[in-house]
Amino acid sequence: MSAKKWKVAVVGCGTFANDQYFPNIAKEANAVCVAACDIVPERAQSACEKYGIPEWYTSVYEMLEKCDFDIAIDATSIQAHHEVNMAILGAGKHLISQKPAAPTVELLTEQIELAKNKGVKFVCVPIHPMRFDLAVAKQMIADGAIGELSYIKCNVAHGGPNYFQYRDADPTWFFEDGAGALVDMGVHGIQIVTHMFGPAKKISCLAAVTTPERTVRSGKFDGKKIKADKIPDQYFINITFANGKIGFIDTGFSQKASKQPQLEIYGSEGTISLTSGYMQNPMPSVYMDAPERGIRGWVEPMTWTSIPKKLISQCCCLRDIIEAIEGECDPMLTPEHARHVLEIMCKIPEAVKTGATVELETTF
Ligand SMILES: NC(=O)c1ccc[n+]([C@@H]2O[C@H](COP(=O)([O-])OP(=O)(O)OC[C@H]3O[C@@H](n4cnc5c(N)ncnc54)[C@H](O)[C@@H]3O)[C@@H](O)[C@H]2O)c1
Repeated sequence: MSAKKWKVAVVGCGTFANDQYFPNIAKEANAVCVAACDIVPERAQSACEKYGIPEWYTSVYEMLEKCDFDIAIDATSIQAHHEVNMAILGAGKHLISQKPAAPTVELLTEQIELAKNKGVKFVCVPIHPMRFDLAVAKQMIADGAIGELSYIKCNVAHGGPNYFQYRDADPTWFFEDGAGALVDMGVHGIQIVTHMFGPAKKISCLAAVTTPERTVRSGKFDGKKIKADKIPDQYFINITFANGKIGFIDTGFSQKASKQPQLEIYGSEGTISLTSGYMQNPMPSVYMDAPERGIRGWVEPMTWTSIPKKLISQCCCLRDIIEAIEGECDPMLTPEHARHVLEIMCKIPEAVKTGATVELETTF
């Protein structure tokens, strides 16, 4: 851990911040949370009381004016990200942004340029590129464990934020313009497959609204009905990667349960299969077809050269940004990768509407 104690401010004191950020800031790095900010004062105040944070604010602008901190974490609702991120970067503070950091590629490029101009580090989650199981799987692929890559298949979905998460904040915004299943869930699948197979070249997609009216099933808003008929809640995304390989992502808010692995990678000489419980740092399951060595079946993987770091929490992005600041290097969770993922998400409505394959322009 570093010698300097990093001062962190969290903007958006909702479900995710309380679940993953506030309780883990001091565990993940030599860091302390010095401020909590939320447009709902009770949420900022309650975070301060619960986690012993000295300052609270109801406006990011006031926080930037009055609070002495180094790194901000934007955990606000999706629609607020761009404005909050621009304010933080514009003030010359290092930033971790929840996903997606902006609604369009152009606006995310503005954020990336601003971060560069101000000389600050900018990290965009999700955190999948920091995952232990993906690091082991990547290493196995590089070492030829499953031969020549054939394709990748990802299933990342749940029953919707109204369904399984205990929430004190009203989840209605997840079903309104600017949010939806693609940017909230699809983003995970797209980041995972592009992390494993590299940048995408083109996409096509099917989508549907499976559940036009939803009911909140727990928390303060238990029983509330939400109209959810404007944005699809289920997507089947086909990807052709720049390396010529293909992939498929099943994503949305329409799986109340599933026994599918989150990720499978198929090769000419085997399969790598990953369960979805990635916070437990599972080892991938590996099937090898190696008749010359008398092996055909599921085998135990090992890490050949270096052992990747295990995840403690989704606040690991704080470790990533601090290592990038101190090492004067790029973080693992780069905004350029996030921009490529965002371009795919922005082009999916066109692919769905036309039924055509859509070419991509960005890379990382
Ligand atoms: N695994 C994951 O990566 C994961 C899981 C859940 C949520 N998320 C993401 O985390 C973010 C927050 O989601 P959540 O589930 O905590 O939502 P939430 O509704 O529980 O919390 C969002 C909070 O942001 C506050 N807020 C909105 N605009 C603001 C502004 N301008 N300034 C300050 N505060 C503001 C709201 O009042 C609310 O308290 C979203 O981007 C969501 O996609 C990520």
